This record gives sequence, structure tokens and C-alpha cells, in this order.
Amino acid sequence: MSFVRVKRAKEFDIEISDIASDKSISHRSAIFSLLSQRSSTIKNYLRAEDTLNTLNIVKLLGAEVEDSGDSIKIVPPKEIKEPPFILDCGNSGTAMRLFMGFLASQKGFFVLHGDRYLASRPMKRVADPLRKIGAKIDGRVKGNLSPIAIRGAKLEGFEYKSPISSAQVKSAMILAALHAKEMSIFSEPILSRDHTERMLLGMGAEIVSDKDKIKIMPLVEPLLPLDIEIPNDPSSAFFFAVAAAITPNSRVVLQNVSLNPTRIEAYKVLQKMGTHIDFILKDEKYEPVGDIVVQYGELSGVEVSENISWLIDELPALSIAMAFANGKSVVKNAKELRVKESDRITSVVENLKKCGIDAVEHEDGYEIVGSKFNDICEVDSYGDHRVAMSFLVAGLRSDLRVNDTECINTSFPNFLDIIKRVGEVEYGD
Ligand code: S3P
Repeated sequence: MSFVRVKRAKEFDIEISDIASDKSISHRSAIFSLLSQRSSTIKNYLRAEDTLNTLNIVKLLGAEVEDSGDSIKIVPPKEIKEPPFILDCGNSGTAMRLFMGFLASQKGFFVLHGDRYLASRPMKRVADPLRKIGAKIDGRVKGNLSPIAIRGAKLEGFEYKSPISSAQVKSAMILAALHAKEMSIFSEPILSRDHTERMLLGMGAEIVSDKDKIKIMPLVEPLLPLDIEIPNDPSSAFFFAVAAAITPNSRVVLQNVSLNPTRIEAYKVLQKMGTHIDFILKDEKYEPVGDIVVQYGELSGVEVSENISWLIDELPALSIAMAFANGKSVVKNAKELRVKESDRITSVVENLKKCGIDAVEHEDGYEIVGSKFNDICEVDSYGDHRVAMSFLVAGLRSDLRVNDTECINTSFPNFLDIIKRVGEVEYGD
């Protein structure tokens, strides 16, 4: 079990061009390439454990993957191959849920499996609505289903109102709808991240968003291939936004990140807390892309209770900004945090307490009163990449050791190389 220790940073003014590429868009670009009969070209694909597992599954389903270093070419199979192996999604809920939606209508038998963290995450939120339209999905009766066995079947069109705003549920249902017999209609309480709709529209799918409803027409022919340069991940970039927000006289330019409105809400919260932030739009294909400039400003406490699905992944890092702010911050309506890579309400609150911060856990969120971190702190990642990276950022203003840090490789393998540019870093086993 490895640990990383980060010690006080001096003030910094840097530009970061090598932030990890977007994880959500990388998963989707690999999976969606299977919906075409022509080769897709993907630049800046995220080479991290989660998305490399997805690429491997795409290969096992019959695609040829040519990696030139600069870009990845995916040549889809004429027909999805029934693999003689299990499909390993590793730590990724996105991979498992999207493949469930995609494979539910494919000819053959498929088994999806993941690591011990993924095995405890809820999969019925996707399996249940898919079963209602005819999918043959089986799994453990007790616990959370996975490993999951799927036997491809003919699917009915549907009208499904999801009780939660989840891009993974939405994407799985849209993928199923593309191969259903009739038009389908999907809705959710508040729009979740919309990469799937944007990308599939760009590939020629008939998907119409009408107020709060998404209408999906079944495919009549294969889609156009993708030709995409994946932007950098605003959720990964956010760790360095928080680094600048808590380090006096510091500034960071986060280059070429997705500026999709469903992904930058956490930056708006940081802005409300007192950080100076500018968004500079540079390009738009599938997604708006640009730079985010973040400059230190004194932080005040904040309440976060709306548009939770737009900042759900950034809440652990935001909790660090809250711990350095003046006054109390409150997070509400964020029960979904409990079913992420760890129970992020407990992981964040327990770790903050270990650092001497006054933090209180609630069923759907937490309260944090900003104050000084203990001189030396030691916390656990709970096997969760975002918890590990959030607390390492806190180390820039204290002296903090995070245990069990291998999980960082699931989404941001060069995170430590970047943090070394602004702080002192020590590793150990
Ligand atoms: C993701 C959607 C979100 C997010 C996850 C990635 C996606 O999960 O937390 O990291 O790529 O669709 P939910 O859809 O479960 O909210």
C-alpha cells in the first residue's frame, strides 16, 4: 500500500497543459465508436486505468484498436463479437453502466465485472429499467448485482422517468433506445452531464431534447464515425483550481478543458466563495473547450444544495476549499455521494476530522467550519481517487500524508508530476 506526503507550497503562478483528458468523454468515445461501421479517430484519449479497461473491452467485442501515440483509431467490427472472457470494468461505474445499456441489445452472452469497490456500487438503477423493456440481465440476488451477466435480447421502446439525475443511467438508457423497436423517451429531475447526447447527435443519431424530455429514435443505419479531440477533464483540473484558491498570491491557468455548463458548476461555487475565475472559450466541436484562469482570493463559507449532479465529482475537492474558508459551509441534497467510488460523505468528513477540522456528517451531505489544519495530518484515500487527490491538495497548505494512493491511476496518472511543480512531494510503500 503506497502513501504520498505533500508539504507546504510556496505561492505559484503556472499554466497547466497536461491535465488528464476527460474521463467521461474518453469512455464514451471508445464505446460509441462501436455504433459506426467506419473507423473513428480519437485524439487525447485518457490513458488511465479506467478508460484503458474500456478500450480493452471494446477490443474484446471485436474492434481493432490502433494506437499511434498521437491518436487512437478504432475500427469497429461488422457485428459485435461474443467474447470468451469476462469484460473487466475495473473501478469504473461509467464503463459498467454504459456497457450494460449497449450490450443489452447485442447478440450474444456477456459478463461484466469490476474491482471490490465497483462490486458494491448500485447497478439495479440501470438493470431494472432495462429489464422492464426486455433486457436479460442477471447478477447476484444479494448485494449490488455485479458480476453481471447479459444475454442480448430485443428491446421495447420506453418512456422512463429516472428518479435520479445520473448521466450514467441516462447514457445506458439512450444506448438501449438506439436498438429498441420504437421511439423512446427519457427524462430525469435535472439535466445531468450531456456528453452522450452531444456526441451521438454529432454522429448523426436522432436524439431530440425537448424541455425536460429526451426523445431517441432507433437507429436505421450505423452512425457516422467519431473524429474527436478529447478536451482535458474539468473535474481533474479542479484539484489545481482548489490549489490556487487556498494558496495566497497564487494563480493557475488550466488549459484546454471542457467548458460544458454541466461540468463547471464547482468553479462557479469557488467563484462565489471569493476565488477570481475567468472562463476563456477557445473552440467548440461536440463540446465547448477553453482555458480556466483561477486566482487566489480570500474564501468565505458557502451553501451548496442545487445542481448537485453538475458538481458531484468535485465535492471532495470543494470540501478542501471549504475547510480553508472563513466560516461555515454546508452541502445538502448530495446523497449520491454515498454511492461513488467510496462513500464520499464519510470519507471526506472522517479525513477532515483527522486533520483537526470541525466537520459534521449528514445523511445527504455535511457541514464544514473552516480553520487551520493540524501541523501534521495522516488520512486514508478509502480507495477513492478523488478523495486521495483532494487531500493531497490540502497538503499544499499543511503537511499531509495520504495512504493507499494507487487509486489515483484510475483517472489522473500524472497528478503527482503536476503537484510536484507547486509543492514538496514524498512517496513511500
Ligand atoms: C459520469 C457521471 C457521474 C459522475 C461520474 C462520471 C459519466 O455519475 O459522477 O464520475 O461519465 O456519465 P452519475 O451518472 O452516476 O451521477
